[in-house]
Amino acid sequence: MGISTEHCDKIEIAGLLHDLGKLRIPDKLLEKPAKLDASERLTMNTHAFETYLILRNIHGFDDITRWAAYHHEELDGSGYPFHVVEADIPIEARILRVADIFQAMSQNRPYRKGLDADAVKAFMAQLSQQGRVDKEVAAVVCACHEQAMQVAQALE
Ligand SMILES: [Fe+2]
Repeated sequence: MGISTEHCDKIEIAGLLHDLGKLRIPDKLLEKPAKLDASERLTMNTHAFETYLILRNIHGFDDITRWAAYHHEELDGSGYPFHVVEADIPIEARILRVADIFQAMSQNRPYRKGLDADAVKAFMAQLSQQGRVDKEVAAVVCACHEQAMQVAQALE
């Protein structure tokens, strides 16, 4: 997608650290074998801001902090934690968001089994149509969904 090697490296680091804030979420919520209720969801959603609070102290991590902290931001401003809108969400953060969703849907969770490659692709296409992820990034991952699936599952 024309991203420089330096930025690709930073996206990888941001990807590895994006959920660091979950260290501050009780295990009881992280491992709950059912859907979270509204109150539990609010607690869980604090993890992106916690990631921001942790990473922002690291010298030279400005981009990484921002891209990691934005991984639950939505293009229409309805995401969290900062409610930023499309124009303020860098392409690197959009890539991280798509990668995070792709991997999450492909992997097994305590409350559901992972989807197969075609189902993840269909889900991503649906999010793209709804404007919930960057259309261009979603198209790229959908074009190589089998390969993306292998990478996502290798990291499980
Ligand atoms: Fe997250």
